[in-house]
Amino acid sequence: MTLGRLPAGLPARTDRQCKIKGTRADEAEDAPMCQATLRTGRLRLVPLSEEHLEYEVELDADPEVMRYLGDGRARSREDVERRHQHRLAAAKRVVGLGFWVGFVDGQFVGWWILEPPERANQGPIDGQAELGYRLLRRYWRKGLASEGARELVRHGFEDLGLTRIFAETMTVNAASRATMTAVGLQHVRTFHTHWDEPISGSELGEVEYAISREQWLAR
Ligand SMILES: CC(C)(COP(=O)(O)OP(=O)(O)OC[C@H]1O[C@@H](n2cnc3c(N)ncnc32)[C@H](O)[C@@H]1OP(=O)(O)O)[C@@H](O)C(=O)NCCC(=O)NCCS
Repeated sequence: MTLGRLPAGLPARTDRQCKIKGTRADEAEDAPMCQATLRTGRLRLVPLSEEHLEYEVELDADPEVMRYLGDGRARSREDVERRHQHRLAAAKRVVGLGFWVGFVDGQFVGWWILEPPERANQGPIDGQAELGYRLLRRYWRKGLASEGARELVRHGFEDLGLTRIFAETMTVNAASRATMTAVGLQHVRTFHTHWDEPISGSELGEVEYAISREQWLAR
């Protein structure tokens, strides 16, 4: 099922990935228009919607999950509720991009993102997207983050016509860096950001990894 009307300038392939809201039984009623539901061997990746808030609350309540994120502390429900709205809004900025919630055998395991750059120093919005992932601790080291990320990279280049996918993390976040490498991204730069409440390891800065469409096609 495709959506007929899309903003001008979108790659033709995007159109084929767009679903009309609520037309598939496995899609949430309020799933963002034009964000595809994706599948891998184990994962079903569903566009983030209102009904997923409780999963996000559980995820962000684990201090180990949050260790290298934000102020490095677990987040309150109120904070997650606010961020949930911001996450939903990501799907409205560029057609096809946004947050995906991942399920294995119907169980929530975490979320993945492919979203447009937010900061001026991340380069142009056109053709670019930032990759990210956050999984419940009990699902770590089972190859799930990389399995979902690999599918998002494929989706970004093959279906959405992106030209570059990048990811950022703290230099000390070994798991995140290894996942970037596992899906084909390469280290581009190390940079330093000012933090009001620096967490341990922030003195070593952050890293950007990336892969271009050409590199992905040649892999
Ligand atoms: C980062 C994260 C998503 C990785 O999830 P995961 O499902 O365990 O990752 P995978 O099992 O797919 O592993 C991918 C690669 O990372 C490696 N890896 C995973 N955890 C690692 C760790 N703690 N240290 C070193 N390497 C690690 C794996 O061995 C694998 O490498 P390989 O393909 O060469 O074997 C998970 O640790 C997490 O949710 N962390 C908290 C949130 C976070 O920091 N997100 C990133 C923000 S930028």
